[in-house]
Amino acid sequence: MGLRLGDTAPNFQAKTTIGDIDFYEYLGDSWGVLFSHPADYTPVCTTELGRTSQLKDEFAKRGVKVLAVSVDPLDKHLGWINDINETQQTTVDFPIIADDDKNVANLYDMIHPNANETFTVRSLFIIGPDKKVKLIITYPASTGRNFHEVLRVIDSLQLTSKFSVATPADWKNGEDVIVGLGVSTEDAIAKFPKGVKVVKPYLRYTPQPE
Ligand code: BEZ
Repeated sequence: MGLRLGDTAPNFQAKTTIGDIDFYEYLGDSWGVLFSHPADYTPVCTTELGRTSQLKDEFAKRGVKVLAVSVDPLDKHLGWINDINETQQTTVDFPIIADDDKNVANLYDMIHPNANETFTVRSLFIIGPDKKVKLIITYPASTGRNFHEVLRVIDSLQLTSKFSVATPADWKNGEDVIVGLGVSTEDAIAKFPKGVKVVKPYLRYTPQPE
């Protein structure tokens, strides 16, 4: 059975483009994004790794470490990085795991045999500082991911881990949030001094807490 939300993200040791790593040691107390792509020297993957690199400061601002993985070997990754840097006008410096023995792919159930027997699909895991899986998304090979959406989810996860709130559909950082279901309206008024708007007893908004 594959991983589910709330499960502990499995640790592993791996060869990567920045050297050998122990996953947990690499993450330390940071949040993590571990994402797989089907293969090196392919067009959609080239744009995905380029975009991730271009968003380096956004991930860093949120205290997030990113790691990519595919079942291609290290020398292939290293050659491909030159192409990513050239075509996407960036400098990839996050680790790309060389998972030629499929250890990470199997631990994280990244190969979906009915889609492709050999290659990893586009799996993405957000892992909290407690090493628990907070988000899983899976895209097919033909569809590149939206990494701004990944950042948006990280903003929501980080906010909702600190305050008793949830974020509504299409929420963006800075917009009003929803008072958590476990909080009475009376408690919400005390907890959220910026105000509480009650639309229905179960649908209450408050400005985003600091
Ligand atoms: C791509 O990254 O372009 C790709 C990879 C595998 C299958 C299809 C597309």
